[in-house]
Amino acid sequence: MNLSAKMLRDNALADKVIVVTGGGSGLGKAMTKYFMELGAKVAITSRDLDKLQTTAQELETETNGKCLALQCDVRHYDQVESMLENVLAAYGKVDVLLNNAAGNFISPTERLSANAWDTIIDIVLKGSKNCTLAFGKHWIDKKQTNTNILNIVTTYAWTGSAYVVPSATAKAGVLAMTRSLAVEWAKYGIRTNAIAPGPFPTKGAWDRLLPGDLKDKFDLAKKVPLKRVGDHQELANLAAYLVSDFSAYVNGEVITIDGGEWLQGAGQFNLLEAIPTELWDMLEAMIKSKGNK
Ligand code: COA
Repeated sequence: MNLSAKMLRDNALADKVIVVTGGGSGLGKAMTKYFMELGAKVAITSRDLDKLQTTAQELETETNGKCLALQCDVRHYDQVESMLENVLAAYGKVDVLLNNAAGNFISPTERLSANAWDTIIDIVLKGSKNCTLAFGKHWIDKKQTNTNILNIVTTYAWTGSAYVVPSATAKAGVLAMTRSLAVEWAKYGIRTNAIAPGPFPTKGAWDRLLPGDLKDKFDLAKKVPLKRVGDHQELANLAAYLVSDFSAYVNGEVITIDGGEWLQGAGQFNLLEAIPTELWDMLEAMIKSKGNK
């Protein structure tokens, strides 16, 4: 199986202008690259202009596409507004907002300062809100239809998760925002969807979240029923579909792409996976013999 195979046909995103927050590295960069390969014009944003410019140049060379690097801290509404103005000045319009920028501290919650918690809420929830509100207002004001917002959440947005509580809290808010606006803004021709990725290793986030030999101790692939982590192209394929016109009737959906990871933890009897075949033979014999009495 070729997990890196590209799903959509050539030019599937021609004429689309897409903004990817946090597009300078990791999964944001992988999605940006595929959007460009499919003919979209993309703007990537983050706080680190140098990194953005390096990425934009690299992707333009690799894809022959267009990538604009724009500095923007999504925590500040005025910066989001000027980022939007810059996108419009460069490309004349914008069709898609991909809220991908995120931050996360792995920590026992009681060790976090109030400011640390605020930092994550501000980047993930307030940042997604700031971009969504600015872009939504613009589209509604200009009466531009056939636009969409794609939010990157996580499966613990609905299960919750220990040790990443600010992130879980914020992502749950983003998921609620996704479903709420899918209904409220549909009348303006704005679709709103989300993706909940499972483990897709990226250098930056994984080195920060699981430093040193923690990565080897907590091999996340083992927690996945498919026994592997995701390939970045698999996520890029799903994102490209959801921002494209092929998904024009998909609205308010959150699509999980995690190899079954979160359900593995949820099913009451899933731990029986550890039972070998011979033991099942014995158990079956014991259960049947009881049933016959
Ligand atoms: N664990 C707990 N608290 C931490 C922390 C950590 N690893 N790192 C920073 N903090 C605390 C700081 O002490 C500070 O709180 P204080 O003022 O009470 O001391 C607060 O968090 C803000 O820290 P600061 O470094 O000023 O934040 P920042 O706004 O400059 O950057 C991030 C925060 C999240 C943007 C930055 O750490 C980052 O770029 N992270 C990489 C992106 C990322 O996390 N990706 C994962 C995506 S899932």
